[in-house]
Order: sequence, then structure tokens, then C-alpha cells
Amino acid sequence: MSLSFELLGTDGAARRGRIGTAHGTVETPAFMPLGTGGTVKAMLPQSVAETGAEIVLGNTFHLMLRPGAERVAAQGGLHKFMNWPRPILTDSGGFQVMSLKDLRKLDPDGVTFRSPFDGSQHRLTPERSIKIQHLLDTNITMSFDECTSWPVAEDAAAFSMRLSMKWAERGRRAFVDRPGYGLFGIVQGSVFPDLRAESVKALIDIGFDGYAVGGLAVGEGQQAMFGVLDVTTPMLPDDRPRYLMGVGRPADIVGAVKRGIDMFDCVLPTRGGRTAQAFTRRGELNLRNARHRDDHRPIDEQCACPACRHHSRAYLHHLIRVEEILGAMLLTWHNLQYYQDIMRGLRDAIEGGSLDSWAAAFEEEQGRGDI
Ligand code: GUN
Ligand code: ZN
Repeated sequence: MSLSFELLGTDGAARRGRIGTAHGTVETPAFMPLGTGGTVKAMLPQSVAETGAEIVLGNTFHLMLRPGAERVAAQGGLHKFMNWPRPILTDSGGFQVMSLKDLRKLDPDGVTFRSPFDGSQHRLTPERSIKIQHLLDTNITMSFDECTSWPVAEDAAAFSMRLSMKWAERGRRAFVDRPGYGLFGIVQGSVFPDLRAESVKALIDIGFDGYAVGGLAVGEGQQAMFGVLDVTTPMLPDDRPRYLMGVGRPADIVGAVKRGIDMFDCVLPTRGGRTAQAFTRRGELNLRNARHRDDHRPIDEQCACPACRHHSRAYLHHLIRVEEILGAMLLTWHNLQYYQDIMRGLRDAIEGGSLDSWAAAFEEEQGRGDI
């Protein structure tokens, strides 16, 4: 196997693990900040590392359009280009292309689409997506798939999932195995347990270095998402990492870790950081709100990030109101710090066999509402 994965311990269905890549290790459960276009927005790479993040996510779709995968390769690959020497995972492009709606055309071989930036025409196939990710030098390549939309009828979900499984097989054949690099398959099947089982079986037959659960957090709600995980993760191999794509709020992550997920990515902490939204131990705050205008307290007394160590809510509120860049920088740092603190808490709790009591305390504090 090209990526190593050690299962260091378990607590119920939850797992404590370690992924080994050519660019270093990732302790799991792990949260991957979004570095969509070759940057974790509003953060220096070294600041991302200071929060405790060990891996970031890049996007095939964005990087193939600007600056182009061949150009990144000529600069020595994405790690060197963005000065992030640690592990990188890239999404395959399918998810982002599908969200273009009328700018795209799907056929059994792939997707043709227009760039939202300059209208130029592009094509993604399973083979081209794998090639682009190879040119980027990403440690974890994702299969090219269709993220089935929701709500969806069972026959349409089956058709979509089976297309993704054919694409997964083509991608596996196109992938060049190298030590410290790996390819993940993506389970689809929407909210239908039989389709999820069929998809897992198809992917295991092909054989991947890790398994992602896709097609969730698309509007189905937390209960339905947890329901899908309850039937899906028990079917996945124990000795390979599991990644829940595009999830989520802190409570979603805690619930998914309890159900055996090892890796996460989500736009919320970084986008929230640019839109005045702070995630805290006691729930979510909108710093734009006038009630913070004269508040001398930090966002979160227990947080060690620069926003909480050096600045008041009143100052952050001011920066946001006058649209100063520093406001986005500080809030993004805080949110990423809090997400990494959650992941560290989860890892320690699994190691200590105390995940249930840790999660109960987490929920109690999140729900307290006195922020
Ligand atoms: N990001 C969130 N969900 C998905 C998915 O189903 N597929 C891919 N490729 N990316 C995602
Ligand atoms: Zn903070």
C-alpha cells in the first residue's frame, strides 16, 4: 500500500489513527482546512500549522483553471508552490463542476464545462482528474465522482452512484502508485442503505488506499446523515482511513467520529472567519452583531489563538464593521484553532477511552447558550 495507516486505538466505533504520507504524518481523527486555490484564505501557511493542522485540502477544479496544473507542476508541485511542505489532499473536481448548473454538460465519459472565470471551455474525465492531481503532487488523490444531489429518487440515486463507481474504476487504472501517495474511493448512494452497500462493495472490489463517504451534508439533515454513517462505516475496511467529505459543524464532526470517521473538511471555519461568524466552545457567535460593540471579553476565554489572546470582541466587531482585512485574518485563525482543539480533544478522549463523557460535556457546553 502506498499510504500507511496505523490504527492506534478505538473507543466504541471511534478510531484513533495515524496516516503516513511522503510529506509527513497525519494524526486522526483529523480536520483538513480548505486551501481551495493554493491558499487557506487569510492565513499564512505557518499559521495554519500553528493551529495544529497537519494536512490541507486543495481543489482540482480551481487549480486546473487558475493557474493550471501544468504550471503548478513546473513550479515544483503544490507543496512548494504554496509553501505547505506537509500532506495535501485534493478533491477531484466533480463536486465543484456539478455546482456550476447551466455551465456544464455531463456524459458517461466525463463532464464538459465553462470556466466561471473567463468562459473558456474545459473537460474533466476520471483520467484527466487523476492526471491533474498527479501534476499537483497531491498526497491523497480523490476519485472523480458525481456528488448525487438531494432530494433524489432511489432509481436516480442508483444511476448516479453506478456512474461514479465506473469512474472510480477508470481512475484507479489511471492512478500512478508511488510510496507515500494514495487514492481514495468515494461511496455514493444518497440516503438509501442498499445503494450505499452496493457502492462500498464496488469500491472494495476495486481496492483503494482509503474510503470517503460523499453525497452528504447536501440538505438531508444531521439525523439522516448519521443514519447513512451508521449503515456505511461498519462495511468499510478497518485498516484504511475513512473521510467524510464536506462536513461540518462541530457537532456533526463529533457525531461522525463516534460513528467511525477519521477525516473531515469543511468550508465553515474559513468562510465563517470572513463573514463574522465565530465557532466557540459555547456555540456560534456573529461578531457583526451590535451587542459586541462594547464587549471587552475575548471570543473564547479558553482559546490560545491570537484573536483570543490579544483582542476583545469589541475590537473584532470594529474590524468587521469597517471591513478591515485583519478582522477576517483573526477570525479565521480563531475558527481553525477551535476546530483543531476539538480534534485534539477527540483524539485524547479516544485514547483515554472516555469519548462518551467527552462528547456529553461537549454537547452540554455547546448548548449552554450563555455566550
Ligand atoms: N465534497 C462534499 N461532498 C462531496 C462528494 O460527494 N464528492 C466529492 N468529490 N467532493 C465532495
Ligand atoms: Zn480563539
